[in-house]
Amino acid sequence: MGLKDTKVYIAGHRGMVGAAIWRRLEKEGYQQLIGMSSSELDLRNQADVMDFFEQVRPAIVLDAAARVGGILANNDYPYQFLMENLQIQNNLIDAAFKHDVSKFIFLGSSCIYPKLAKQPLKEEYLLTSALESTNEWYAIAKIAGVKSCEAIKKQYQKDYLALMPTNLYGPYDNFDLKTSHVLPAMIRKFHEAKLNGHLPVKLWGSGKPMREFLHVDDLAAAVQFAMEGNFQESLYNVGTGKDLTIKDLAITIQKIVGHKGDLVWDVQKPDGTPRKLLDVSKIKDEGWKASIDLEDGIAETYEWFKDHIDQLKEVRIS
Ligand SMILES: NC(=O)c1ccc[n+]([C@@H]2O[C@H](COP(=O)([O-])OP(=O)(O)OC[C@H]3O[C@@H](n4cnc5c(N)ncnc54)[C@H](OP(=O)(O)O)[C@@H]3O)[C@@H](O)[C@H]2O)c1
Repeated sequence: MGLKDTKVYIAGHRGMVGAAIWRRLEKEGYQQLIGMSSSELDLRNQADVMDFFEQVRPAIVLDAAARVGGILANNDYPYQFLMENLQIQNNLIDAAFKHDVSKFIFLGSSCIYPKLAKQPLKEEYLLTSALESTNEWYAIAKIAGVKSCEAIKKQYQKDYLALMPTNLYGPYDNFDLKTSHVLPAMIRKFHEAKLNGHLPVKLWGSGKPMREFLHVDDLAAAVQFAMEGNFQESLYNVGTGKDLTIKDLAITIQKIVGHKGDLVWDVQKPDGTPRKLLDVSKIKDEGWKASIDLEDGIAETYEWFKDHIDQLKEVRIS
C-alpha cells in the first residue's frame, strides 16, 4: 500500500487550516482522507476520541483542531482557551499514540514564543522568558502540545512533531471585524469603503509595526512536506521569513481592492509588538520554503472574499 492509500485523519478539517490541508491532499491524490465535524466527534471527550481511533484506525493524524480566537476572546474565556485546547490535543495525541499512529503533526502558532524574544524568532527561544499575557492561556496549551510530541519522539522514537505557523491568511479566513486578524479586516474595510463611494479608511496605530504573513495553502504544502518527509526534530517554524510594515500591507490591499479614498491612521490606538518574524531556516534546511507571493495571495483571497461574502457566517465556524 502506497502512502496515498493510507488513512489520514485531519482533525479540524472544516476550519481555515484543516480545510486547506484537505484541499491540498485531495488534489495530490490522497484517497483515504478522514474528517469529523465537532458535532460528529467532540474532541474534548476522551472516551469518544478513543472509540473513534479504535474503529477508524488512522495511520497518520494532522491536528488542526483548536479553540481559536483573538485577544478579546482569550481575555474573556481564559479557562476555556487553556482547558479545551489541552483536552483536544491530549485526547488526540494520546489516542494516536495508543493506536500506533506512525505520524502525528500538531499545529500551533507563533504566540508560543516569549513576548520579548529576539527577532527573528528561533525555535530554541521557546520557554526562555515570559509569554505575552493576553494570550498566555492559549500559548501554554500549545506549548504542552509541542512538549507532548517531543516527549513521544524522545521516549518512543515515533515521528510526532509540531509546526508553528506565522500569521495566516487565505480562503475561509475570519472576516468578522470584531474578531478578525489584521489582513482579513483590512480587506473587508477597504472593500466596504469602496462600495460606499470610496469613504476614508481608518486603521489602528501608526502603521509602523512589522508583520509576516503566510498563505494558508503554503502552510498546507508544508504540512504535506513534513508528513511525507522524515524531519529530525520535533518543532519547526513555518513562515515566509519576510515581513513588511502594516502601512505597506495596507497600501498593497488598498491597491488590490481598488479603493481610491484616504487612508487615516489612528495613532491614539496601540501598535502592539514592533516586530514579529519567524526564523524559518530550520524548515528550509529540511528542504521546504513558501512559494505564494504576498500580492498574488491577497488578490486571490480578495476574490474568494467577494465570492463568499453572502455566506461568510455559514463558512466561518465560531
Ligand atoms: N488562523 C491563523 O492565522 C493561524 C495562525 C497560526 C496558527 N494557527 C493554528 O492552526 C490551527 C487551526 O486554526 P484555524 O485558523 O484553522 O481555526 P478554525 O478555522 O477556527 O478551525 C478550528 C477547527 O477546530 C475544530 N474544533 C474546535 N473545537 C473542537 C472540538 N471540541 N471538537 C472537534 N473539533 C473542534 C472546529 O471544528 P468544527 O468546524 O467542526 O466545529 C474547526 O474546524 C490552530 O491550532 C491554530 O493555532 C492558525
